[in-house]
Amino acid sequence: MTSESVSVGDVIRGLLREDLRHLHAYGAPQLDVPVQLNTNENPYAPSESLKKAIADAVANIAGTLNRYPDRDAVDLRKDLADYLGHGLTGQQLWAANGSNEIIQQLLQAFGGPARKALGFEPSYSMHPLISQVTGTVWIEGSRDADYGLSTAAEQVKAQQPDVTFITSPNNPTGTSVPLDIIERVYDAAPGLVVVDEAYAEFVRAGTPSALTLLPGRPRLVVTRTMSKAFAAAGTRLGYLAADPAVIDALLLVRLPYHLSTVTQAVARAAIAHRDEPLATVEALRQSRDGLVEWLRSSGLSVADSDANFVLFGVFGDRDAVWQGLLDRGVLIRNTGPTGWLRVTVGTPAENDAFTRALTEVCNL
Ligand SMILES: Cc1ncc(COP(=O)(O)O)c(C=O)c1O
Repeated sequence: MTSESVSVGDVIRGLLREDLRHLHAYGAPQLDVPVQLNTNENPYAPSESLKKAIADAVANIAGTLNRYPDRDAVDLRKDLADYLGHGLTGQQLWAANGSNEIIQQLLQAFGGPARKALGFEPSYSMHPLISQVTGTVWIEGSRDADYGLSTAAEQVKAQQPDVTFITSPNNPTGTSVPLDIIERVYDAAPGLVVVDEAYAEFVRAGTPSALTLLPGRPRLVVTRTMSKAFAAAGTRLGYLAADPAVIDALLLVRLPYHLSTVTQAVARAAIAHRDEPLATVEALRQSRDGLVEWLRSSGLSVADSDANFVLFGVFGDRDAVWQGLLDRGVLIRNTGPTGWLRVTVGTPAENDAFTRALTEVCNL
C-alpha cells in the first residue's frame, strides 16, 4: 500500500487504543419516521402544565449559570430518595447523565484493567460496551431457554467477576428476575452486584424491586433512570441507590460538576410533577399486555414482558420484517436473539400502526 492510499480513517484507527479498534459505536437508528418504537421511551410528551413547570424551573436558575452547579446534586438526590421510598436517604442516592453514565462511573471505579465484569446475555448492549471502554474484561454469562437466570449464581461463583450485572426487567427480553436469584448471586459474588432496573415502573403487579434487598448488602447497587417511565429521556438523568460507601468511591471517578444546573433543575421539576408521566404507566402496561396477547394469538412467540417493550419472533429473516415495517413508517429494533425483534409500546395509535404493518408484512 502506498502512503498516498492510506486514508485519514486508517491513520486515526492506527492511533486508537488497540482494544477499541474492533468495537462498533452504540447505534440504535434515529430515523425520522412517523412511528418510532425502537428506543423504549415513554411515547407521551409533557403536557402544557409540565412544560410550563420545566420552563419555570429553568428560568429560576438561569441567573445562576455563571456559577458551577451543585457538584453533589444534594437536593436532587434527596428528591430521588423520596420518590423511591424504602426508607432511602439522599446519601444513598447518586445521579448522573443517564444511567449509562452511572454504569460508566461504576465500571471506572470497580472495573478497569485486569478486572472482570459479567452479565447474562442477551441483555443491555451497553453493559459489555462500557466494560470494554473502561478496560474491563467482559464475561458473557448465559440464560435459560426461557431467558431465566436459574444458573446465574453458579456462573458468578465460577467466574468471580468484580462487577456483576443483572438487568430486571431485562432488555431486550422484558423478563424480571426473582429476588431470590438476586440474593443467591449476591452471596456468590466477590464484588459489586448491579441490578439495572431501568424499566422498574412497568413491572406487573407483585414483582418486587431489588431496592428491598439493599439493607445489609453494601455490595448491592440498584440503578434507575428517568428516561423511561418518567418520560424524560431528553433530560439525561439516571441514578442509583446503594450504600453511601459506594457513592464515596464514585466521587473519585466522576468529573467535577458532571450534572449541569439545568439538568438538576429540570429533573427536580419532573420529579415534583411526576404524577402526570407516571399516570401513563398503567395505560402502557395494559397496552403491553394487549400487544403480547395479540402477537401470541397471531402465532408468534413472545417473551413474557415486565417492561414497556415486547420481544417477539421467531423470523427466518428478521431483517426483512424490520425493513418491511420501516417501509410502512414503523421503526422497531432489530435486536435480541437471532430471529427476534423488539417493539416499544407506544400510544394506542402507534400500536395500531405497528399491528397493521406487521399483519401486512407477515401475512398474519
Ligand atoms: C436496561 C437499560 N439500562 C440503562 C439504559 C440507559 O438509559 P439512560 O442512559 O437513558 O438512563 C437503558 C436504555 O435503553 C436500558 O435499556
